[in-house]
Amino acid sequence: MAGKVITVAQQKGGSGKTTLAVNLAVAFGRRGLTVALLDTDPQGSLGRWFMARRERLGAAGMEFSTASAWGVSYECEKLRKVVDIVLVDTPPKVDADLRPALREADLILVPVAASHVDLWATEGVLDLAARERKRATIVLNRAKAGTRLAEEVALAAAELSAELMAARFANRVVYAETLGQGLGAQEAGRSAATTEVEAMAEEVLALLAD
Ligand SMILES: Nc1ncnc2c1ncn2[C@@H]1O[C@H](COP(=O)(O)OP(=O)(O)O)[C@@H](O)[C@H]1O
Ligand SMILES: [Mg+2]
Repeated sequence: MAGKVITVAQQKGGSGKTTLAVNLAVAFGRRGLTVALLDTDPQGSLGRWFMARRERLGAAGMEFSTASAWGVSYECEKLRKVVDIVLVDTPPKVDADLRPALREADLILVPVAASHVDLWATEGVLDLAARERKRATIVLNRAKAGTRLAEEVALAAAELSAELMAARFANRVVYAETLGQGLGAQEAGRSAATTEVEAMAEEVLALLAD
């Protein structure tokens, strides 16, 4: 089977792109899928996570590489031949440099930290994805239980005529802690986050199989 490429993109920094990428990578790995991470963000957070992971676990259990704008297509082509899933993390901007990462994608995930400001920032990436005729799905992140905001944002997302993932990540310290440790939230022991991440991975795989 040819590997599938999932690109995580969103203009707004801090929306959870890297968090989503690493947690999906760990979840897919736990399901027995082979995974490669491709960091196209010069800030290199994904690379830092990967290095922390190697230090902690000895072996990261996944591949890692970096690429800038035009190297992205080449890397994706190469990686998708050797792994089941390639996860591409991107910088917080929408410009021509983002194009190759979108063009290579079988699925584009757009994390929105539950706020209207984040939602407004999705337009650019959704437009670009549409121009590339690629499927883009909004993922609600940092949803706060018991507040109306997440539901409002979910409604507004639906009005953008973008797909919205049913699975979402709540605002939980374990996501921030494990990101710094080179782990996925699932690897910190069973918690509510485990259930969320498993549900997210399952839904993403179902979308890829469509
Ligand atoms: N669901 C969440 N709950 C708690 N903290 C989160 C969550 N998602 C992201 N964060 C934290 O928010 C910050 C930004 O997330 P990050 O994934 O780096 O965003 P991006 O890659 O889009 O810039 C990080 O410190 C991360 O740990
Ligand atoms: Mg990031």
